[in-house]
This record gives sequence, structure tokens and C-alpha cells, in this order.
Amino acid sequence: MKWQLHNVDAIPWLIDQSSDNFDALVTDPPYSSGGLHTGTRTADSPNGKYLNDPGKYPEFTGENRDQFSYMQWSTLWMTHAHRVLRAGAPVMVFSDWRQLPVLTSALQAAGFTWRGIVAWDKTEGVRPQKGRFRQQAEFVCWGSKGKWHSSDGPVLPGVFRYSVAAGGPKLHTTGKPVPLMADLVKACPSGSVLDPFAGSGSTGVAVIRSGRFFVGCEREEAYFNVACDRLSEIA
Ligand SMILES: C[S@@+](CC[C@H](N)C(=O)[O-])C[C@H]1O[C@@H](n2cnc3c(N)ncnc32)[C@H](O)[C@@H]1O
Repeated sequence: MKWQLHNVDAIPWLIDQSSDNFDALVTDPPYSSGGLHTGTRTADSPNGKYLNDPGKYPEFTGENRDQFSYMQWSTLWMTHAHRVLRAGAPVMVFSDWRQLPVLTSALQAAGFTWRGIVAWDKTEGVRPQKGRFRQQAEFVCWGSKGKWHSSDGPVLPGVFRYSVAAGGPKLHTTGKPVPLMADLVKACPSGSVLDPFAGSGSTGVAVIRSGRFFVGCEREEAYFNVACDRLSEIA
């Protein structure tokens, strides 16, 4: 078996893990974003906020925090994640433009060294806004637990261009393309990669295909089942 997926809340699960246990963290937490107004952001379901067709995917929770509480919650889970990672472990956490400032603060408050931002260019297939800029990018805030694990290896790009559906159909409201996840995983050491917010398992697919070991948590049973089916097909 090249993976473990747990149908649990990530925070108590992280608290139960032993220290210095995983080699990298690559994750896409709920953004608590979207919607034009605070009321929409904090009250609407994720599918209502993010999709034209809200019935297309199962719902998920954890999307109702305002920016202040999102920063506190991010600091909380990243503090526990910091403890369970080995020294030198890379950390990569997705965000959108709205939450990026608080996420970079939370990452540092949790004890990580913040090293930069990778941009995911989602191509022209998304969010046209007449007379304004297209919401075409999401971001990966990256850093490490102390010193970066290696001073060797290929130079990796800082911008990746993939459509949302690249590499196969999207299986989650906010699913990420597997080729993008595969590019991010290249910066991880061999060993284990942790994703506490696994969703439909896109990180897991990329991790397993790379020959590394995947450990994930997903709280919603519907997505846990989607991810298990997906990971079982490849390993
Ligand atoms: C942005 S989605 C991840 C999507 C994933 N990258 C993919 O490609 O399918 C975040 C996921 O985190 C899950 N989640 C939210 N809060 C959680 C928690 N406290 N513990 C575990 N999972 C949680 C949600 O159910 C959701 O599926």
C-alpha cells in the first residue's frame, strides 16, 4: 500500500501524530473566500459561492470564516502540522488572492520559514470580468520547517499554466489538476507527503505516481470515498 487516507477532522488527527514524522506537506485547505460580500463569503455553501451549477459536486464545510478567524484557524492547523513534519520539510499551501496575505502570516506564525509564492495560471477558461482583470491565478505559499531539505536538484518554475481540467475531469468543487500537483511534488524529498485537506485526492494521485508515500485526511465522507476510489485505482 502506497497511501493512507483518514476520514477525520485533520486537527485532532494531527494532534495525535508523533513529532517529526512526515517528509513534506502539500495541501489545498478550504479558502473561506469567494462571493462579493462578507455575508456571501461566510454564509453561502462552497458550491453556492464557487459554482454556476451548485448541484454538480458534493458539498463540503469549513468555508465560513471571515479573514481574522481564517488566519487563526490556519495558524492552528499549521502549528500542529509543523510539529509532525521532519526538519527541512517543504510546505506548500494553496490560497486565492483574497486570503494570501493572512495565509503567509499564519504560515510564519506556525513556525515555518516562508520562502515564496508559486502562481498557478488557470488559463483564459476562468472568470471573465468585463472591463476588469480576469481572476486567472491561484497561489501556492511555500516554505519549509527550518532549512530547505536540499541545495541540489533541477531549477523548478515559479509559474505553472494548467487549465482546471488538465489531466482529467475535476472531481471536487475546488479540485486541483493532477499535473500541477505533480509539478509541486517534484520539490519534495523522497518519503512521505501529507495532505490534511485531501478532497478528491489530487495530491495523493501525484504523490503516489512520483513513487512517494501519501498520507491524507478528508472530513467529508463523500469526498473521502471519491479519493479512496481514485487512489485504489493506481496503487
Ligand atoms: C479545497 S478542498 C481540497 C480539494 C483537493 N485539492 C482536490 O483536488 O480535490 C478542501 C477539502 O478539505 C476538507 N476539509 C475542510 N476542513 C477539514 C478538516 N478540518 N479536516 C479534514 N478535512 C477538511 C473539505 O471537505 C474539502 O474537501
